[in-house]
Amino acid sequence: MRQKLVIANWKMHGNLALNKQLLAACTEKLSSLKNVDVVVCVPYPYLAQAQSMLQNTSIAWGAQNLSKDSDGPFTGEVSANMLKDFGATHVIIGHSERATAYCESDENIATKFMQAKTHGLIPILCVGETLIEREAGVMQMVVAKQLDTIINTYGASVFAGTIISYEPIWAIGTGLAASAEQAQSMHKFIRDKVAEYDQTAASQLKILYGGSVNPQNAVQLFSMQDIDGGLIGKCSLNAQEFEGICQAAVR
Ligand code: PGA
Repeated sequence: MRQKLVIANWKMHGNLALNKQLLAACTEKLSSLKNVDVVVCVPYPYLAQAQSMLQNTSIAWGAQNLSKDSDGPFTGEVSANMLKDFGATHVIIGHSERATAYCESDENIATKFMQAKTHGLIPILCVGETLIEREAGVMQMVVAKQLDTIINTYGASVFAGTIISYEPIWAIGTGLAASAEQAQSMHKFIRDKVAEYDQTAASQLKILYGGSVNPQNAVQLFSMQDIDGGLIGKCSLNAQEFEGICQAAVR
C-alpha cells in the first residue's frame, strides 16, 4: 500500500513575510494529519526559511529545479548538494513551465533526474501532454516518449523510490482539471509502462496528479487506484485550501 503524498509547488510566489505565515499555518493545520506525506517545494532563496520553520515537523521541503552538473563554472545554477545543505529531500524535475520557457529537452531532464537520484534527493519527474496532443489522441505516445528517454538511458529500475507527476499542460493553472477517469487512465498507463521492465519499481512508484487540483476535485482524484496524491500549484499558496487537499488524501 502506497502512502498518499501531497506536494506544494509554490512556483515563483512568496516573500519572507508571507512564507512565514503560510508555513506556520500549514504546520499547525497539518501536524495532526496521519497517513499522508506532505512536501513543500519553495523557490531557492527560501530553502533556509523552509528548513528553519519545518525542521522537527512532519512536513518535508524541496526545490523546483536543480543543475544537471554536480559543480563547476555554471553561473546561476544550483547543485543537488547545495539543496541538500539546506535539508531539501525532494526536487521537481522537468516541470512544463520550465521545459517550455527554458527549452529543457527530454535528455536534459533525464540527466537532472539522475543527478538528483545519485545525490540522494527524490526526483519528482513531471510528464504530460498539451491540449492539441490530447485532442489528437496521442497523449500516451507523448508521455511514453518522455519516460523512454530515462528508461533507455538509465533503465526502468531508476524509478524505484521516485515520484512521477502526471501534469496535463492544459490543466495547469487553468482551473480545468483532468477528470478522475482521464487521470487514472494515464496513471495506469505510466505504471504499466514501468512494470513492463521492473514490477517492483512500478509498484513502489508514486504517481501524483497535478493540474488545477482543489479541495473538491481532490476527493475523487485521490480515490483512484493509481493516483497516489497530487502536485499542487495555486491552492498550495492558501493554507486552508492546501489543508483541504491534504484532508482529501487521508480519506
Ligand atoms: P496548479 O499547478 O495547481 O496551479 O494548476 C500545478 C502544477 O503546475 O504543478
